[in-house]
Amino acid sequence: MRQKIVAGNWKMNLEYNEGLYIFSEVINMVNDEVFGIQTAIVCCPYTYLHSLAQLAKGHSKISVGAQNCHQAEAGAFTGEISAKMIRSVGAEYVILGHSERRQYFNESNELLSKKTDIVLGNSLKPVFCIGETLEEREGNRHFEVIKTQLNEGLFHLENSHFTQVIIAYEPVWAIGTGKTASAAQAQEIHAFIRQEIASKYGREIADATSILYGGSCNPKNAAELFSQADIDGGLIGGASLKSRDFVDIIKAF
Ligand code: PGA
Repeated sequence: MRQKIVAGNWKMNLEYNEGLYIFSEVINMVNDEVFGIQTAIVCCPYTYLHSLAQLAKGHSKISVGAQNCHQAEAGAFTGEISAKMIRSVGAEYVILGHSERRQYFNESNELLSKKTDIVLGNSLKPVFCIGETLEEREGNRHFEVIKTQLNEGLFHLENSHFTQVIIAYEPVWAIGTGKTASAAQAQEIHAFIRQEIASKYGREIADATSILYGGSCNPKNAAELFSQADIDGGLIGGASLKSRDFVDIIKAF
């Protein structure tokens, strides 16, 4: 059975004390209430990873992740952070290929395939983001775009590595815009992604892969999105900055 996962992406928000406070609240709420998910992940700025990972220790349903990493193992890359460093402070996940990184930092599928390798090679799990822009959707190219992102970013992986990957479908036009894909639109793409995985890795692996939806997911629309057959949870931006909203989304299962 594939895992039900809700991941928060704080992006470049919250100061250290605010982040610690919100994370502590999430831990308390998740401990006190019973949920149908296997894992809640908070992807925070690098500088908070160690503290959050310490707080998450002993809480089986809560993990911590980074939002990016460099593609090299180590070396002369001033200002960069490696997968090994992220692992060494207790984080378990790394978001890769977020559309903001693709757009503002020119991250290509080719670069992301290298980052995926380094992340997996350091025993971290990638939350690999894919999704089309508004222009691509309006031009009816969304299936093709997603297929290319999968082929060029992920499908070089061997089975044993691919099974560690979590995929997040995030239509770029829905991120931070308050516009959510309808449950039917999201399900259509999730089913397509799962079919592509099945063609490459077989049905068993496809059925065991968690595919999350992201893009203006909130406590009001989460239940309907998560009830779709191929939606296994969410990647949450804005709503993950408020502990109650984030936990209400977790509870939507
Ligand atoms: P949003 O962001 O929930 O604020 O739309 C999602 C994301 O960028 O991962």
